[in-house]
Amino acid sequence: VLLDRRHLRLHAPWVILGLAITFALTAWFIQASWRAERWVGGGSEVGLVAGIAAASTIVFEMLLLPRKWLRRLRLIPAKYWMAAHLWLGTFCLPWAIIHCGGHLGGWLPTIFMIVLALTFLSGIYGVLLQQVLPRWMLRHLPAETIYSQIDHVAEQTVTDLRRQLVATCGPDPNETHRDRSRGEHAVGELNDDDEPASHRSSAPRTVVIGALRQHGRVRGRVVKTLVSKDASADRQPLWNAMHQLEPFLRDGRSSQSPLAEPRRADEWLSRLRTACTKGAAPILEAMEQAHRQRQQFEIQQTMHRWLHAWIPIHLGLSLGVLILLVAHIVVAMRYW
Ligand code: HEM
Repeated sequence: VLLDRRHLRLHAPWVILGLAITFALTAWFIQASWRAERWVGGGSEVGLVAGIAAASTIVFEMLLLPRKWLRRLRLIPAKYWMAAHLWLGTFCLPWAIIHCGGHLGGWLPTIFMIVLALTFLSGIYGVLLQQVLPRWMLRHLPAETIYSQIDHVAEQTVTDLRRQLVATCGPDPNETHRDRSRGEHAVGELNDDDEPASHRSSAPRTVVIGALRQHGRVRGRVVKTLVSKDASADRQPLWNAMHQLEPFLRDGRSSQSPLAEPRRADEWLSRLRTACTKGAAPILEAMEQAHRQRQQFEIQQTMHRWLHAWIPIHLGLSLGVLILLVAHIVVAMRYW
C-alpha cells in the first residue's frame, strides 16, 4: 500500500466517508449524553448504531482473508480492497469508543477494546513500514532483485566471476586433475574457450557475463562483454581469494564467512590489491562489486523479513478481535 499524491483518488473517498461518519456519530453521542445528563453507553440508540458500524467494519476487515484465498478470481483489484481496509479499519476504533461511551464495563469489553486497539496499532505499523522500507530499498540497494531469485542471482554471480578469473588468469590451480578427468564441473567451470589470453595467444579476449543495470526506476541484469586483461601473474592469490569469497557470495551471512563484516571485507580487499599486480585490477573490481551485491542482498533479506514479520501478528490479533466480537455480542444479547 502506497500513500502518496498519486494514490489520492484511491484513498480520498474512504477518508471522507470515515470522517463524515465519525463526526456524525460524535455529534449524536454528545447530544444524547447532554440530554441524558450522563455518557450514554452501548445500549443507547447512538451506542447501538456505532456498535453496528464498528462490528460490520470488523467483519469487512476480516473479508481480506477470503479475498486473499480467492485472489485468482480477480474479483476486485487488491488496491481498492486495501484502501477500504486501511481507512475503515482506522475509523473502526473511534466508532467502538463511541459505542462503549467511554466506560468499558466488565473484563470482556476491556480485553476486546485492548485487542482492537492493538490490531489497529499493528496495522498502522505495517502501513508505515510499507511507506518507508521499499522506498529506502529503491534508493539504497541498486542490486535489489526479486526476493525469491536471490539464490539464483548469487549463483550466477559466482559463475560470472569464475569465468572472468579463468579468462584473465587461467583455471583454478587448486582444482585436481582427478575432478577434471571425472568430468566433474564446479559451479561456473568453463570450457577451454575461456583460457586466459596469455595461455594461448597474446590478443585480448572477451568474456560475456550478466551485469546489473539500472535506468531510473528500472533495473535488471543485462549481458555485458568484458575485455579481459592478462593477470596470470596473480593466478594463485586471485583463486585463493575467490575460494575465500565464494561462501559469502553464495550464502551471505549464514556462511559464517568473516567477509560478511564490511570492515573486515574492506581490509581483505585492500590487502589483496596490494598483493596483486596492476593487471588484476579489473578482476578485483569485479570481486568487490560481487561482494557489494551480496551485502545488498543481505540487507534486502532483512528488510523483507521486517516487511512481512508484522503480518502474522496483525492476523493473530484480528482473529482475536473476531472471536471477542462474537463473545461480546452473545453476552450483550443475554443481558438485553
Ligand atoms: C478491526 C481492525 C482490523 C482487522 C480485523 C484487520 C484484519 C486484517 C486481516 C485479516 C488481514 C489479512 C492478513 C493476511 O494477510 O494474512 C489484514 C491485512 C492488512 N491490514 Fe488489517 N485489520 C484491521 C485494521 C487495520 C488497520 C487499522 C490497518 C492500517 C491502517 C490495517 C492494515 C493492514 C494491511 C496493510 C494489511 C495487508 C498486509 C499485506 O498483505 O501486505 N489493518 N488485516
